[in-house]
Amino acid sequence: MASSPAGKFSLCLVLMLFSWALHAASRTIPEASVQQKHEQWMAEHGRIYADSEEKGKRLEIFADNLQFIEDFNHGGNRTFKLGLNAFSDRTVKEFLETSTGLVLPSTLHPRTTSFMYANITHIPDSLDWVAKGAVNAIKDQGRCGSCWAFSAVAAIESITQIKTGKLLELSEQQLVDCTIENYGCSGGWMDTAFDYIIQNGGISSETNYPYNSSDGTCNAHMASLSVAKIVGYEDVPDNNEGEILKAVAMQPVSVALDGSGREFQSYSSGVFNGNCGTNMSHAVAIVGYGTAEDGTKYWKIRKSWGETWGEAGYMRIQRDYTQPEGLCGLAMHASYPVV
Ligand SMILES: *[C@@H]1O[C@H](CO)[C@@H](O)[C@H](O)[C@H]1NC(C)=O
Ligand SMILES: *[C@@H]1O[C@H](CO)[C@@H](O)[C@H](O)[C@H]1NC(C)=O
Ligand SMILES: *[C@@H]1O[C@H](CO)[C@@H](O)[C@H](O)[C@H]1NC(C)=O
Ligand SMILES: *[C@@H]1O[C@H](CO)[C@@H](O)[C@H](O)[C@H]1NC(C)=O
Repeated sequence: MASSPAGKFSLCLVLMLFSWALHAASRTIPEASVQQKHEQWMAEHGRIYADSEEKGKRLEIFADNLQFIEDFNHGGNRTFKLGLNAFSDRTVKEFLETSTGLVLPSTLHPRTTSFMYANITHIPDSLDWVAKGAVNAIKDQGRCGSCWAFSAVAAIESITQIKTGKLLELSEQQLVDCTIENYGCSGGWMDTAFDYIIQNGGISSETNYPYNSSDGTCNAHMASLSVAKIVGYEDVPDNNEGEILKAVAMQPVSVALDGSGREFQSYSSGVFNGNCGTNMSHAVAIVGYGTAEDGTKYWKIRKSWGETWGEAGYMRIQRDYTQPEGLCGLAMHASYPVV
């Protein structure tokens, strides 16, 4: 009975009504405790507000997020936890506007069709490119919709390390300023960034062309000081996590996903399997995979939201989802640079 589709549906419905009821209930955390937590959080994240009006407004949003987090964490059997982080005084809408930044180009290039890893057979059960030393420390995109640049740079830094043994820090700012087919801090797309780097004959270093989380004009001199090159990029066949696995077994991969959910915003640890759609708003790099103790398969994804978000800047997210597009649509548009 419980396993029939009708049974499943009514179970979902009950859970939905339950969480709605929790939501509609007035806040249960005492006001004084919320204020104290907010002060603590402000100190921890160095947050200063312009005036008391702004502070009052941010306290309300913070209180809302805190209640959401506590309700979720006490809500029973979940594979992940939520927590406060640098985004806890922002609404989900603000979070999406200021901290993601995936925008499809107006003329989308056709997806590439060759897939060099189609026939690889050696795929380890688990893999962590971070532990292998192929991934730089977590970066922070700040209030700039440049996730696409961080995703592309992470993939290039890693394949360069895998091929040459040298872990370089490459320039996201160059991509933000110089990739004219993208929109800088207003969003962009990884394949377009790869195209630019191929045409430019390479990409400069973080030291030469440092990141400042704002739009700028392209510095042609700094942009010409390439320290790493790629010769092409390939798109992983769409909507197929098995194919992504082959690619990740060989190198970190850039993916787009829907990072717009409230649970996503406050994710703190565990294997995420929360609410999200397939409206692609965010870009990340898959830097590994494995299986959690409870048997849940996951991808390890590298974010560009600093080290206080998630598991020291990373998220584990459910792998081998029931739908081919992957959880949060992460299998819809995966690609990687070729060196
Ligand atoms: C919790 O969830 C896990 C995985 O979904 C399941 O195996 C386990 O039986 C659940 N435990 C309870 C107490 O519901
Ligand atoms: C994979 O194997 C198929 C069948 O043998 C072959 O047609 C194809 O060219 C191979 N692909 C690659 C990338 O090696
Ligand atoms: C950020 O750097 C770019 C050049 O890389 C420059 O054009 C822009 O003015 C800088 N912005 C700020 C706010 O410093
Ligand atoms: C999808 O994202 C776009 C851009 O952020 C937004 O305008 C649109 O409303 C979103 N659609 C849904 C169904 O959330």
